[in-house]
Order: sequence, then C-alpha cells, then structure tokens
Amino acid sequence: MSHTILHIDSSPMGARSVSKKLTQQVVSKLTEKYPDTHVVYHDLSTEILPHLNGEILGSFFTPKENHTPAQAEAIRVSDQLTDELLAADVIVIGAPMWNFNIPSSLKAWIDHISRMGRTFKYTETGPQGLVASDKKVIVVSSRGGIYTEGPAQAFDHQESYLKAIFGFLGISDVSFVRAEGVSMGEESVAKALKAAESHLAEVLLTA
Ligand SMILES: Cc1cc2nc3c(=O)[nH]c(=O)nc-3n(C[C@H](O)[C@H](O)[C@H](O)COP(=O)(O)O)c2cc1C
Repeated sequence: MSHTILHIDSSPMGARSVSKKLTQQVVSKLTEKYPDTHVVYHDLSTEILPHLNGEILGSFFTPKENHTPAQAEAIRVSDQLTDELLAADVIVIGAPMWNFNIPSSLKAWIDHISRMGRTFKYTETGPQGLVASDKKVIVVSSRGGIYTEGPAQAFDHQESYLKAIFGFLGISDVSFVRAEGVSMGEESVAKALKAAESHLAEVLLTA
C-alpha cells in the first residue's frame, strides 16, 4: 500500500542542523520500512511562507464562490499546504527550540494548515479536529538546554505547543525524537544524540 510522508524542516543551519540530520534519518528509515513511499518536502528556512495577512484571512472566511481574484490567489498556498497535510500518513517535523518555542517559519506553516472547516471546527460542545485521527506526527525536537527535567521544564513551549496544536486538529499520535542539551558541551551533545537514536528506534516500532 502506498504511504505518504510529509517532511517539514525549519532549521536554517544547513549541514550543522541537528534537527535536519535527524528528520532525514527518520524519513530514510520510514522509506526503508515502506518502500512504496511518496515524500513531500518543505524546507521552511528557504521557502518563506507569508504570515497571515488581511487578504489571506479574508480568503479563509469568505466562501470560495465569493472570492475576489486577490483572495483566490491569497488562499492558494494555504490550500496546497492543507491538502498535503490531509493526504499524508505520517508527518515528520524538524522543530528546533527557538526562544523557548518553535521558529516563526514553522509557526507560519501551522497558521496555514489550521483552517476552520478544513482541519478543525467549533461545535456546541467545543472544538473538534477534522484531520483523520490515524495519522502520525513525529517531531524531531532539538534544543540547546535541558527541559525534560530540572528548573527549565516550565519553559518548554515548543514540544508542549506542538502536541497541543496537533491534538486540536485531531492527531493525538504525536511522538518526539529529542536531542536536548546540544549547547552544553561535547559530552552533552553525545548524550543527546544517543538519546535521539533510541527515541528514533522506539518511534519506528509503531510507525
Ligand atoms: C535563534 C535561536 C534561539 C534559540 N533559543 C533557544 C532556547 O530558547 N532554548 C534552548 O535550549 N536552545 C535555544 N537555541 C539553541 C537551539 O535550540 C539548538 O542549537 C538546536 O540544535 C537548534 O536546532 P538545529 O540544530 O536543527 O538548528 C536557540 C538557537 C537559535 C539559533
């Protein structure tokens, strides 16, 4: 059965990026496991998505048949990104921690795929995710410090945010391949990469 992976990177660090190296490994292991795999890729550090402006928001909240030519143009990117999300079986995301959160390039992508009526809706009993719940998200999380224990735990608005937003859209299966402490010296980097390797092996068991 054909398998579609949506692979999103957001680090601009090129060959030095920890998250990029790890997302590549995740995708290549998944491709080994499912040979008939189609990969859709975006590097958000070079493919700069527009922030949601008045035109784009206007296009979201106006029925398609009433779109002005400018609105029809403005919604194109968001429609394509949302179609890609809805068509994917697995979504692999490279998410460095930046200022305790995700890079704004990745946030811009999330703003484009969080679409009322397409990926979520509000009901009388509260919000409901519209993305098929059998999808799997694998987040590669790279961060300079340590947030899984110790005093900085409350500063993690990166992994907690990603889990929350994908849950909101209907995907509860969000797992993390984590390399943390990569700015804390060589020993810490080695430990981080070893931990990420074991998270990767674990994630692949159920992917
Ligand atoms: C702009 C910027 C902001 C950062 N902010 C944080 C931070 O708030 N907390 C942290 O632990 N590390 C922070 N770091 C370190 C990165 O999370 C770390 O270098 C990580 O490896 C980046 O992922 P990458 O190697 O894939 O680019 C920051 C790095 C940059 C470039």
